[in-house]
Amino acid sequence: MHIAVIHGPNLNMLGIREPQTYGTMTIADINAMIATKASELGISTQCFQSNHEGELIDFIHRQHGTADAIIINPGGLTHTSVALRDALLSVSIPYVEVHLSNVYSREPFRHHSYLSDKAKAVISGAGHRGYLYALDALSATQSS
Ligand code: DQA
Repeated sequence: MHIAVIHGPNLNMLGIREPQTYGTMTIADINAMIATKASELGISTQCFQSNHEGELIDFIHRQHGTADAIIINPGGLTHTSVALRDALLSVSIPYVEVHLSNVYSREPFRHHSYLSDKAKAVISGAGHRGYLYALDALSATQSS
């Protein structure tokens, strides 16, 4: 099983960015943790981060025929991007939407996601462990 892990805008700033909301781990720490967990599960992963919507869309398109599943934290694009939703649907790859923070306990504009209704699962508020739970869920689905 191969999983693409996508980090959207501003997630390169983790560790510096609002640590009270997003924690103190950097994106490199999170990617290392994902790689360790994935290898325990016998899953291969590729992590990708961009601050640019078009680059995220291009990366999603490249997953067609390559990735069995996608784990995506779309950052602020969660709440704005029809194009990101369309890209995910265009490749027909199941995806899990992850948010470090609990978006439902925050500003009302964060309560709507353009991705959630089509996601296999949504994990919000579990911090960096959300990515690990997503790996577990996708790996369990594959073997069940
Ligand atoms: C986020 C939540 C979004 O509302 C925000 O714009 C982010 C990060 C999260 O991981 O909690 O950039 O996706």
